[in-house]
Amino acid sequence: MKPFIMEHPLIQHKLTILRDKNTGSRDFRALTSEIATLMCYEATRDLPLVDKEIETPMCKAVGKELSGRKLAFVPILRAGMGMLEGVLTLVPAAKVGHIGLYRDHETAQPIEYYCKLPSDIAQREVIVLDPMLATGGSAIDAITQIKERGVKNIKFMCIIAAPEGMKALEEAHPDVQVYCGALDEKLNEDKYIIPGLGDAGDRIFGTK
Ligand code: PRP
Ligand code: URA
Repeated sequence: MKPFIMEHPLIQHKLTILRDKNTGSRDFRALTSEIATLMCYEATRDLPLVDKEIETPMCKAVGKELSGRKLAFVPILRAGMGMLEGVLTLVPAAKVGHIGLYRDHETAQPIEYYCKLPSDIAQREVIVLDPMLATGGSAIDAITQIKERGVKNIKFMCIIAAPEGMKALEEAHPDVQVYCGALDEKLNEDKYIIPGLGDAGDRIFGTK
């Protein structure tokens, strides 16, 4: 499925500040959350609606409300947590699952360490959150775990992607729609995105 690259000027402006190495953790966290809110607006554009009869102070009227299909957000720990508050701002009733993965420093392969998903996740549309799609290993692994629970409708939201990760994710999960703030140039020899923004988890949580 063709990725959706977000070209909205507000996202591009905030992304430039996010990339800047002089942006500290406080601003980095706020911007990550704001970008996630803007991306969520686009990623929820196709949610189905049904008619709803109401009465305004003036007369009876028919409005729209979201139909039965419910959402769950699944941030990939740690850095995906930086996007969670931003998306919950728009969909506060969504359930939240967590998948813990980190990249092995030598191999860049994802190591699983946690998975807790809503018990009714198979009945939900799931949006997976992670600011960085580098080799694609973490996103592919997380989405595989979610599919194993019977989920049919999955989207993946990242702030920056490398072409290598985008290709790998498309090949592994062609049914997953990807929303991305920017498609960068390449990975370096340590599998970091160039130009990227460095280590997203460390910058969000101030651990470096
Ligand atoms: C980062 C990022 C992704 C992963 C992307 O997490 O948040 O989960 O790397 O790389 P990949 O596409 O090559 O798998 P990291 O492993 O640094 O863990 P952290 O979020 O706990 O810092
Ligand atoms: N994870 C990050 O946080 N940044 C990268 O550039 C690659 C993986």
